[in-house]
Amino acid sequence: ELSPLGQQSLQGKSVIVTAGGTRERLDPVRFLTNDSSGKMGYAVAEAAQQAGATVTLITAPTRLTPPAGVTVVPIQSTSDLAQAVLDRFPQADALVMAAAVADFQPLDVADQKIKKSADNDGLILKLRKTPDILAEVAKIKQPHQVTVGFAAETQNLLANAQHKLHSKSLDLLAANDVSRTDIGFNSDDNQVTLIDANGEQTQTPKTSKIQIATLLVDQLAKILATK
Ligand code: CTP
Ligand code: CA
Repeated sequence: ELSPLGQQSLQGKSVIVTAGGTRERLDPVRFLTNDSSGKMGYAVAEAAQQAGATVTLITAPTRLTPPAGVTVVPIQSTSDLAQAVLDRFPQADALVMAAAVADFQPLDVADQKIKKSADNDGLILKLRKTPDILAEVAKIKQPHQVTVGFAAETQNLLANAQHKLHSKSLDLLAANDVSRTDIGFNSDDNQVTLIDANGEQTQTPKTSKIQIATLLVDQLAKILATK
């Protein structure tokens, strides 16, 4: 039996999905990044497309092949990602921020490779906070638009997740316990708690990222249908 929404629940809708770990360059040959594989975001892009949406996948470098038929926008840094999202969001119906966004970026990017020097045992990097993309999006979000975030937490999962849901004005948030090594970053499987703007929580089973993505897209479609 199909759910009332059916398989084409995002027909005619335009969905932006972000994926992968952003890279913050230190010098021409080095960057700071994180463990994100991009698998969750790519799975969401695929599920959204299967639900009938027109999908734009804004992606940091990954080892993955994007699903056929999605528009791919490659980015590297958080600033690139912010610009790519903010340029496109006004025309979109929904945004799913599955990217693992760097929270800090080097204050200066060295033009030349940073050298070891004889009188230095170490190197102190000066970093500054990156822009919070979802917080920027919240400022321009229209009532018909839906935003979805992921919360990566190693402790106080639900409390931290609830806080992010409200502070970023999200319609839906997937809370992810990244302290577990059997799920999350890099794994093929995941388990998340989906929390909507009413505080309604749904825990998914531990299953493939494709399955999780399908559940998430289903909820996204339901929320979009009420707007
Ligand atoms: N995010 C964002 N811009 C950033 C950092 C994160 O849009 N500069 C998005 C992520 O893509 C994710 C959500 O915000 O959908 C939550 O990311 P997370 O790293 O869990 O939370 P932060 O707000 O960065 O807080 P912290 O890392 O300190 O827990
Ligand atoms: Ca963060």
